Amino acid sequence: MAEEESADPAARVAELRARIREADHAYYVLDQPIHSDAEYDRLMRELAALEAAHPELATEDSPTRRVSGAPSERFLRVVHREPMLSLGNVQTDAELDEFDARVRRLLGLPGDARPAYVAEPKLDGLAVELVYEEGVFVRGSTRGDGVNGEDVTANLRTVGGIGANRGVPARLAGDPPPRLEVRGEVLLQKKHFEAMNQQILRQGGEPFANPRNAAAGSLRQLDWRVTATRPLSFIAYEALVPGAELAWRTHWEKLDHLTRLGFDTNPVNRRLEGIAAVKAFRDEMADARFQLPYDTDGVVVKVDDLDWRRRLGAASKFPRWAVAFKYPPQEEETLVREIWASVGRTGVLTPVVEVNPVRISGAVVSRATLHNEDEMRRKDILVGDWVLIRRAGEVIPEVVKPLKERRTGAERPFTFPATCPVCGAKVVREEGEKVWRCTGAACPAQLVGRLRQFASRRAMDVDGLGEKLCQYLVDRGLVKDFAELYGVPFEEWQRAFSRPRKKEEAGEEPELPEKAATNLVAALERSKATTLRRFVFALGVPQVGEATAATLARHFGDVGRLLDASEDALLAVRDIGPETAREIRAWTQEPQNRRVVERLLAAGVRPDPEQLDARGPFAGKTVVLTGGLAGLSRDDAKAEIERRGGKVSGSVSRKTDLVVAGEDAGSKLAKARELGVRVVDETQFLAMLRE
Ligand code: IVH
Repeated sequence: MAEEESADPAARVAELRARIREADHAYYVLDQPIHSDAEYDRLMRELAALEAAHPELATEDSPTRRVSGAPSERFLRVVHREPMLSLGNVQTDAELDEFDARVRRLLGLPGDARPAYVAEPKLDGLAVELVYEEGVFVRGSTRGDGVNGEDVTANLRTVGGIGANRGVPARLAGDPPPRLEVRGEVLLQKKHFEAMNQQILRQGGEPFANPRNAAAGSLRQLDWRVTATRPLSFIAYEALVPGAELAWRTHWEKLDHLTRLGFDTNPVNRRLEGIAAVKAFRDEMADARFQLPYDTDGVVVKVDDLDWRRRLGAASKFPRWAVAFKYPPQEEETLVREIWASVGRTGVLTPVVEVNPVRISGAVVSRATLHNEDEMRRKDILVGDWVLIRRAGEVIPEVVKPLKERRTGAERPFTFPATCPVCGAKVVREEGEKVWRCTGAACPAQLVGRLRQFASRRAMDVDGLGEKLCQYLVDRGLVKDFAELYGVPFEEWQRAFSRPRKKEEAGEEPELPEKAATNLVAALERSKATTLRRFVFALGVPQVGEATAATLARHFGDVGRLLDASEDALLAVRDIGPETAREIRAWTQEPQNRRVVERLLAAGVRPDPEQLDARGPFAGKTVVLTGGLAGLSRDDAKAEIERRGGKVSGSVSRKTDLVVAGEDAGSKLAKARELGVRVVDETQFLAMLRE
């Protein structure tokens, strides 16, 4: 590329630094990268090469010499007791050999020595440090710029165990030292990433580019309750004990100890003798990594012997005892056969690019979606183009760019349809909007999805009303909006459940199943007694996911008040920004939508603002809060308890079920002890909130 052959190295160095800083800001602060990792690495390598060739251009503050990722002002600052370093990257066998040779040379090992290494998949998430005092989790922070991190303690407390994952333990098992600093990666599994982006897209939001950004964006929330809704995992890979540099003899022992203390370490890690074995492991992982539940873009190679590590030390930015091998990016060339518009559940039209099938990151890809028209124009993708395609975060197929040099002139642009390809209604692109939307309120493409969300477990929880049944109801024209669900005649439910007739029975009226239909009607009946937050979520208001629905329910306490709230009133709600306020207001002002709500209420749906959770540890309990809580305000704690069906009282008596004792709890705590009332600390309280 011409710009990379600039004759003036000083100008090029300045330009590279500016571009890297801009990329860092987008990546670390905004969690919205503007370059692929491969492109970023290319910029970084070019800069490093120029600085090596022109030492007079090297500066202390060059991105090649400091760890990227300025901590955001939004969080309290945490100074890492030991800086959190970054890792040098290598991409070839020769570079790996160089690393190994340097290790042996610096340690004075004989030429044929095969030092033991631990090879670990390079996890593509967000590095954090957890501090434990006397076995209790007291502080957690992001890496930030390596020296200053961001305090995300409350958020990290919500990284709980999911499935086989243990998350961030609140309290350690076994024999923890007085102070232990554990480092590792917070990440989002690929399947969770996919589900999360789908939800974001359904709500008309901007999806995350890859699991790494999704994990970072989820952890770096100002409100830990948002983080709590994201299924994050934590995998530990390093630990430090202040004052005991050699608390362990080897890294391998350290990892083993971490699992005994209650952390997840990566079961894929391997202890290997010599660099040849490391290369074999790397080759083995080159394909196997796509079967792992999370993203990995390389292998971290670490000297196992900790005394050797100490002797090897670190340069300004990288340790000399470890290096990251990066796999080449998985990109393939293929041909665009067709582009068409698919209609999503919120009526958003998304361009779908059909390509000749190619194998990428362990799966066959035959189509990629673009987020919107602008992206299609920006990327300048034409039907008939050869394109470079990859999977964002090894998951989502993505067109990187067209290969313009291969154009023949026969390519043609895709024009967005003026009408909805599903229902034929007009499609519009509102001012300031990025997407085209179908205006058909009864558009079947939207209706099935909306019914699905309405009936889903986290919304109205209509047991048994799944995708297929929703599709059936829409296809048969039985249901045109949510309210009509409650009016479907029993016989129609029976028909819906009846199995397709066998040939020989054709003509006869099939037997209509009684039980499934009865169960479904009962489930519909049960769903009527619901909570306001579920109801609001079920309505499928654009931008309103579960967390926002809960906030709105808490704030307004009543459907009518929510429907009548002005944009200003909505803006006054905590965590609701101007865009969301506008979308909600537009939705509530649409007469059709108001009618649906009215008819739902008329059908007997009763969204209850109080009895939000009849189960759980707080239901029906009287709770007293005393002392200061670090993770949330007194008001928020009260609201959380009330939302779970508990009552908060100001004084401790025999009727008190539970006392939450924060920092410096005084006489109320003493009284509770005297009366034998159950007392929990903040960590336990937060754990109960998560139950
Ligand atoms: S060790 C100095 N182990 O890579 C040692 N890091 O470029 C650095 N990473 O910020 C940490 N997987 O986010 C280590 N198994 C692993 C890792 C790993 C991913 C990331 C981590 C760190 C970055 C360093």
